[in-house]
Amino acid sequence: MNLATNYLGLELANPIVPSASPMTLSVDSLRQLEAAGAAAVVLPSLFEEQIEHEAMAVHAALNFGTDMSAESTDGYFPEMDDYNTGAGDYLDRLRTAKEALSIPVIASLNGSSAGGWTLYARIIEEAGADALELNIYLIAADAERGSAQVEEEYLHLVEAVRKSVSIPLSVKVGPYFSSTANMANRLVSAGADGLVLFNRFYQPDIDLDTLTVVPNLVLSTSDEMRLVLRWMALLHGRIDASLAATTGVHSAEDVLKLILAGADVTMMGSALLKYGPELITTILSEMIDWLTAREYMSLDQARGSLSQESSPDPSAFERSNYMHALVEYASKR
Ligand SMILES: Cc1cc2nc3c(=O)[nH]c(=O)nc-3n(C[C@H](O)[C@H](O)[C@H](O)COP(=O)(O)O)c2cc1C
Repeated sequence: MNLATNYLGLELANPIVPSASPMTLSVDSLRQLEAAGAAAVVLPSLFEEQIEHEAMAVHAALNFGTDMSAESTDGYFPEMDDYNTGAGDYLDRLRTAKEALSIPVIASLNGSSAGGWTLYARIIEEAGADALELNIYLIAADAERGSAQVEEEYLHLVEAVRKSVSIPLSVKVGPYFSSTANMANRLVSAGADGLVLFNRFYQPDIDLDTLTVVPNLVLSTSDEMRLVLRWMALLHGRIDASLAATTGVHSAEDVLKLILAGADVTMMGSALLKYGPELITTILSEMIDWLTAREYMSLDQARGSLSQESSPDPSAFERSNYMHALVEYASKR
C-alpha cells in the first residue's frame, strides 16, 4: 500500500509525524520513533522566553556593576529544566537529530512576538532543519486590543520569519478566530507553506487546598480530534498550503478520518507519550488493512474524499448538521 505523502514539499513515506513533545527530545527516542515508522519528526520548540532569557543574560553580563546583575534575570522566567534549555542546546540537539535520522527533522519556534525569532529562524535553517514550524501561542487577553489588531500581529510574525528563511515554513495556530477560514488564508498569503491545526492550549487549574493557580497538563483524548476534523474538511482544497492535524490523534481510525477530511499529515503527541513509539507501527499496519479491505491503491486516493468540497453533503460540516445531531440524540433516549 502506498502511504506516501507530501508535506511542505517534503516527500514522506507515510502521514505519521510525531509532534513537538518530550517524545522528540532525546536522540534515543527519535531513533525509536524512526524505527517504528515515523515519517518525519517535529522537535520540541525553542521558546521565545528562552531566547529572551539568553538575550537578557548577555545584556545583564554586559551591564554588570551598573543597575543590573546577571543574577537579576533569575526569577523573570521559570527555571530552565531539561525540556526548556537554551538556544545553544537547541541547535546542538537539532544537529544531532539530523545526523542520527534519515527522515526529515522539523524544528519549532514557540512564542507570540517577533523578538529574536527571525534571527533564530535563520540559525535553525543553517543548523540543517528540513522545515520550520512556527507555533504562535498567543492568548489574546488584552480587552483593549481588538481581533483585527491581534490578527495583524500573527501575520506580521509570519511575514517576518518567512523573509528570514528559505526552508519550508508551517504555522501552528489555535482554533479561536472569528473567521478561522479567512485567517488560514491570510496566514498562507503571509508566507506559510503549511498550517498545523490546532494548537492545544494548555489550560491552568485551581488547587482548592492551596488556593493557587496550578499548571496541570492533561494529555489529550481521541474525542478532541473532532474540532480538527471539521476544519480539515472545511479547508481542504480551499487554501493553497499543506495541512497537518494535531490534537487527539490516537489511533488508525483517527488518522484515517483526518486523511479522508483532507489532512496531508497527522501529528501525534499525547498518544505517543502514553503508549510509546511502537504505537506508530500498529497504526500503520491497521491503516494498510483498512485501505486494502476497501481496495484503495494509495492513501492519496482517500485523501480529502470526505472534505466539504468533495462531500455529497457539504452541510454536514456546518450549522445545519447541529439540528440533525440534536434530533438524533433525542430519538435515541
Ligand atoms: C508534554 C508536552 C509538551 C509539548 N511541547 C510542545 C512544544 O515544545 N512545542 C509545540 O509546538 N507543541 C508542544 N506540545 C503540543 C503538541 O505538539 C501537540 O500539538 C498537542 O499536544 C496536541 O496533540 P496531541 O493531542 O497529539 O497531544 C506539547 C505537548 C505536550 C503534551
